Amino acid sequence: MQPKPNIHSLPKFGILGLGLQQEFENNGYLVFKDAFPSAKISNIKNHITKMVREFQPENFFSLEADEQNPATEKYLCESANKISFFFEKDAFDSDGKLKKSKNRAIAKIGHALHDLDPVFSNFFRREELMSLCISLGMAKPRLLQSMCIFKQPHIGAKVAPHQDGSFLITEPESTIGLWIALEDATLDNGCLWVAPSKHDEPLRKKFGRKSGNLVMETLVDTPMPECTVPLVVRAGSLVVLHNRVPHTSKRNDSPVSRLALTLHLVDGACKYSEENWLQRSAKLPLQGFES
Ligand code: FE2
Repeated sequence: MQPKPNIHSLPKFGILGLGLQQEFENNGYLVFKDAFPSAKISNIKNHITKMVREFQPENFFSLEADEQNPATEKYLCESANKISFFFEKDAFDSDGKLKKSKNRAIAKIGHALHDLDPVFSNFFRREELMSLCISLGMAKPRLLQSMCIFKQPHIGAKVAPHQDGSFLITEPESTIGLWIALEDATLDNGCLWVAPSKHDEPLRKKFGRKSGNLVMETLVDTPMPECTVPLVVRAGSLVVLHNRVPHTSKRNDSPVSRLALTLHLVDGACKYSEENWLQRSAKLPLQGFES
């Protein structure tokens, strides 16, 4: 029998009471069902389908962000200010040719969807999400990074246990991750798994810029705790993740995809690290919910 997470309804206007604030403080995550109405979910899914249909790849970049390949690093860094497509590694054959159709091969789209695409901007810029971030202690929530994650049938790659704060550092730490299920996330298609109450442990790693390269640095050499709680959720659910809570997802060997969106926010009142891989250009400054 798997442990089950607490699943709540999103409070009116997104304002979290003391009980939910305390639960986030204790567990490092929160789960809300039906946080997005089904009409909004259908609308954004149709939009994503259209984006994929219209996308004409010139080059194929996979998700191996830390493999020290200069072209991959450049593509990743530029994606901070763009809408870029990344492919599943297992979508290619041994000759490097795509063995799946485009719509079954894309792993993710990122990372400025929320600022460059009005459909995504409308989807994410909701008063409820702003109030939720403020309820969790953010003074000035800033929308930093958005991703559409496909977790394709049969090839959707495993995501190793990690802490989101390793990738988006502020001083003091402030990153909050919002994970939104656009399709049901199950044990078979690669739902999230979390390690409750382990967000009081330090950040183990830091991924960022060092001497012109992107490197994954080990900060604390202690193993990541086991992620014991599967977040089996229905489409429309919202998961809120503390920047240090370890989480992971398994490979999707099932015939069913597990489409999700993520939005990472930082507090504009905190100092954003110049070593973060994600650096916004002056033309695309970080914005809040009201933009
Ligand atoms: Fe994550």
